[in-house]
Formats: sequence, structure tokens, C-alpha cells
Amino acid sequence: MLSYRHSFHAGNHADLLKHLVLLALVRKLGEKDKPFTCLDSHAGAGTYDLQSANALMNAEYESGIARLWRQPVKSSLLQDYLHCVEALNPDGELHYYPGSPAVARWALRERDRLLLLDLQQEEVDLLRAHMRGDARIAIHQRDAFEGLLALTPPDPRRGLVLIDPSYEQKADYQRVVDCVHKLHRRWPVGILAVWYPLLGEARDRSEWLKKALQQERLDALSCIELTVSPQAPEFGMHGSGMLLVNTPWQLERVLEDALNEVLPRLGTDVHFSIETLSESE
Ligand SMILES: C[S@@+](CC[C@H](N)C(=O)[O-])C[C@H]1O[C@@H](n2cnc3c(N)ncnc32)[C@H](O)[C@@H]1O
Repeated sequence: MLSYRHSFHAGNHADLLKHLVLLALVRKLGEKDKPFTCLDSHAGAGTYDLQSANALMNAEYESGIARLWRQPVKSSLLQDYLHCVEALNPDGELHYYPGSPAVARWALRERDRLLLLDLQQEEVDLLRAHMRGDARIAIHQRDAFEGLLALTPPDPRRGLVLIDPSYEQKADYQRVVDCVHKLHRRWPVGILAVWYPLLGEARDRSEWLKKALQQERLDALSCIELTVSPQAPEFGMHGSGMLLVNTPWQLERVLEDALNEVLPRLGTDVHFSIETLSESE
């Protein structure tokens, strides 16, 4: 039984990292005229009300997007990201936050496609309502890992997948590794982007995940991590990371510029790293 609701976490530091990387990838694909497909395997509700009871429970957005809201920034990626958030909040108050489907949609062109998957009925109902009337978007209520293999390679063939599980079940880590391995074989040109949490020592599986993916002979594998506090001995999420397969040329530089500006606004014990784990063949 699934119980994860992203509305409790929307706009936190992990969303900042994930959505900046997602937007950077979609912008890269948009640099060429040819259309592309973006798949989002764990799409969630699409847009989040930051004044809802769920969002206010821990108000995680206050140490995330609220720190950047209406701040002048130089990086063009960061400017685009903030424009995307502003588009949902035209009156100038930070009330709504775009989930990954809304971030991707914001940067789509007329002939690009967005395929969204989620398993939970409530999330899918909200997602349908938020994405209504956009002919570029298809929503599938089905298991992410089975669905991704069925829907790839997509048409248009250029594109990317965001894989963003809640990792409620430990088995999700192995399912991610198996899925990435199969996707890369089925769709060698696809960009694959996997989000993962950095947890307290007792629970952390990030090193295992990185090592497991490094053994899969994936092209241009890179890893971007953002931490906002020291690692706790037991529980708690002190940061998160993204693993990218087929990392586009010069993406690291674009992310570095954006994250260098994000860092001082999030706090004093905040760090990021960008690492190349394998080169392209
Ligand atoms: C972390 S949230 C997604 C957040 C979203 N990607 C964003 O950035 O706005 C994870 C989502 O995965 C969904 N989910 C969990 N297990 C799934 C599965 N096996 N297949 C598809 N969706 C699943 C949950 O319903 C939840 O909405």
C-alpha cells in the first residue's frame, strides 16, 4: 500500500535540486529544432498548494523555494526556474509550487511530448486536473518501472526520463538499477535522470546505488549532490542527488553556475558536488 504524498515536501531543497536538473535537461533538448519526449515515471500531483495543511505541516518549502523567491539571480537556468514558479503565482505571492510535470511542461515546445506516470489514484486525479487540455501530455496510471519499459523508446526518439521514486520500499533501489539497465539497452540515446535521497547513516543507500549503477557500463554517467546539513547517525534527509546517464555536453557547467548562486541562500552548511562517474563511449 502506497502512502507517500509529495505535498508534504513540495518546494524543499530536494525539489530545488531535482527541478533545476530537470529544467537544465529540458532546456538542453530544446536547443535543437527536432522535437523530443520527456517521461516522468513518478509524476505526483503536478502542482502543489503551499498553504495546504499537508505543505504547512513541516513547511519544508520555507528552507527551499522560499529562500530564492523574488531574489535577483544571474544564472539563466535559475532565472528560468524562478520564471516557471512565478508563472503559477502571478500575484507575486508564493502560493503554488510546480512539481516535475509542471516544470517540464513550462519548457516544452509545440511538437514536444510529455508522458506522465503515477500509480496512486489521488495523485493521478490531481495530475489530470492540473494538466487538462494540453494535447502534448499523456497521463498513465500504471507502475513506473513496468510502464517505462513499455513506453520506450518513445516517439519522438530524442528525450529524457525522470525517475523519482519515494523509496518507501527498500526494494525500490534495486528496481531503479534494473530499470536503468534495461532502459539504456532499449533506448541508448535517452537521457536518464534518477533522483535519490541522502539519509542518516543507518538508512543511507546512496553509495550502494551509485556503485550498482557504475557497474552497469552506462554512458556519460554523472552525479550531482546537494547537502544542507551534516549527515545524522540515524534518520533524516540531509540532502539528495541526481544520477544522470547520457549527461549532455556542458550540463555540469550550467548546473555549477546555478548551484553556486543557490548555496549561500540556503544556509551556511550547504554544499554541492558534481562528479563524472563514466565517460561517453
Ligand atoms: C517523490 S513523488 C514524485 C514527485 C514528482 N516527481 C515531483 O518532482 O514533483 C513520488 C511519486 O511516486 C508515486 N509512486 C510510488 N510508487 C510508484 C510506482 N511503483 N509507480 C508509479 N508511481 C509510483 C507516488 O504516488 C508519488 O506521487
